[in-house]
Amino acid sequence: MSRLKDTGFAYYDLKKQLQYEDLEKDLQQLTLAFDHLPIDEYAPHLNRYRRYARAIIMPKTYDIQWLPESTVNKKSYYEYFQGSFNPEYTGEYRRFPSLKKETMNNRLLEKIIRFDFKETFWMREDALMPFHAGVHFVKLQVDDEGEEAVSSPNNLHQDGEPFTFAHLIKRHNIQGGWNAISHPANRGKMPEDINKADMKASFYLEEPLESYGVYDPLVTHYVSKVKTGEKQGPGERCAILIDFQPTVIANPDEVRSMRGNTTEMVFV
Ligand SMILES: [Fe+2]
Repeated sequence: MSRLKDTGFAYYDLKKQLQYEDLEKDLQQLTLAFDHLPIDEYAPHLNRYRRYARAIIMPKTYDIQWLPESTVNKKSYYEYFQGSFNPEYTGEYRRFPSLKKETMNNRLLEKIIRFDFKETFWMREDALMPFHAGVHFVKLQVDDEGEEAVSSPNNLHQDGEPFTFAHLIKRHNIQGGWNAISHPANRGKMPEDINKADMKASFYLEEPLESYGVYDPLVTHYVSKVKTGEKQGPGERCAILIDFQPTVIANPDEVRSMRGNTTEMVFV
């Protein structure tokens, strides 16, 4: 039985489920990767910091390979097009600073990606090609009392990608960061405005590697804003978010490389 397949939502405690000898050592390295995350340039006022990397994962063998980064002004980035093959969406270009190589080589991260992928399920037609895994390291950080860090969108929403998994790495000196899961009909609403019976799950991720996954079409999800906790000094909530999408052969009419602009085309 798969809870994720039955209900669109599942909770996992990966510290229990992924036990191996060097787990603590590898977890410590992943935790340190959150110490110097650059600010999210697309939302600097939200007190959000992030790095990103994209990998492909092979069906059946579960081999993982990181896609190459782009270099801009000697810094590594992963470029990102929303609706990559659709010429109507050329404005939806973003780039995120890349995860560091040592993070991409971390054995625990690889185990987490593989664990998540094995939880996913697909139509046969979508499963003929490798899958795309987008790996976000996201930190919400608040330095002073009264400051807030906000996830976006700040309501019950769907991501538009088939599967997303969230893995808590660190929760320190904060209030908030409360998760809620509901039905697609409640998309765009705040959890306090829905019927209690419509709340499929609500919880805090508190310990490192406490995790959850959603199959997007069946649920909406929400995480509440974060403020500083009881102690002096800053507070933070660090999480790894992993989403999976199929890579399917595109319709030739929608492929940019079929438009014949050879001067703009490059050897890769
Ligand atoms: Fe989301």
